[in-house]
Amino acid sequence: MLRVAVCVSGGGTNLQAIIDAVSCGEIKDTKIVGVFSNNPGAYALKRAEEAGIDNCAISPKDFSSREEFNRAFLDKLDEWDPDLVVLAGFLVIIPKEMISRYRGRMINIHPSLIPSFCGTGYYGLKVHEEALKKGVKVTGATVHFVDEGTDTGRIIAQKAVEVQDGDTPEILQKRVMEQAEWVLLPRVINDIACGNIKLG
Ligand code: GAR
Repeated sequence: MLRVAVCVSGGGTNLQAIIDAVSCGEIKDTKIVGVFSNNPGAYALKRAEEAGIDNCAISPKDFSSREEFNRAFLDKLDEWDPDLVVLAGFLVIIPKEMISRYRGRMINIHPSLIPSFCGTGYYGLKVHEEALKKGVKVTGATVHFVDEGTDTGRIIAQKAVEVQDGDTPEILQKRVMEQAEWVLLPRVINDIACGNIKLG
C-alpha cells in the first residue's frame, strides 16, 4: 500500500482528481494518509475533510521564524510517514531538510511543459498569462521530482495541450487542468504504486 501525503495551498482540484482516482480504483493500492496546507482558508482542506482524510493547516504566519514553521511542517509530514509526498498546487518553498529527507519521494505538478514557463514566480495563472504572451501554440503540464531548485527536478511525465485562438489565461488554465493535470498526476501516482515508476 503506497502511503501518499498531499500538500496544497488553494482550490485543490488536483487533490480532488487524486481522491477520485483512488476511490474509483484508477489509482491502485494507495492510501492518502494526510493533506497539508499552509493556508487555513484553502478549499482543498474541505475536499480532504469530505473524503475523510486527515488534514492539517499550518501557516508560516503563526510562527516567529521560518525555521520554526519548517520544523512544524516537517514534523507533520513525518507523523503521516508517507512513502510519497505530492505537491499539488503548493506555493511554499520546500525546506532543504525536507528535500533531503524525501529526495526521490517527492513530486510536483507544474502547469506548463518544463523547461518553458517555470521557475521562480511562475505559478498558477501567471504561467498561462506568460504562455499566451509568448504566443506558444502548445502548452501542457509536467510532473517532476522535487530537488533544491524551483521546477528543476527530473521530469517524470508530461502531457501537451493545444492553445486555441481567443484563449484567455483562465480558459487555458482550465483546459490544461482538464486535459493534462487531472489525468497526468493520478496516472503517475498509479505508476508509482504499481512499481512502473521507481522512487528514490
Ligand atoms: C495547478 O494548476 C497546479 O499545476 C499549479 O497550481 C494550480 C493549483 O490548482 N501549480 C503551480 O503553479 C506550481 N508551480 P489546484 O489547487 O486546483 O490543484
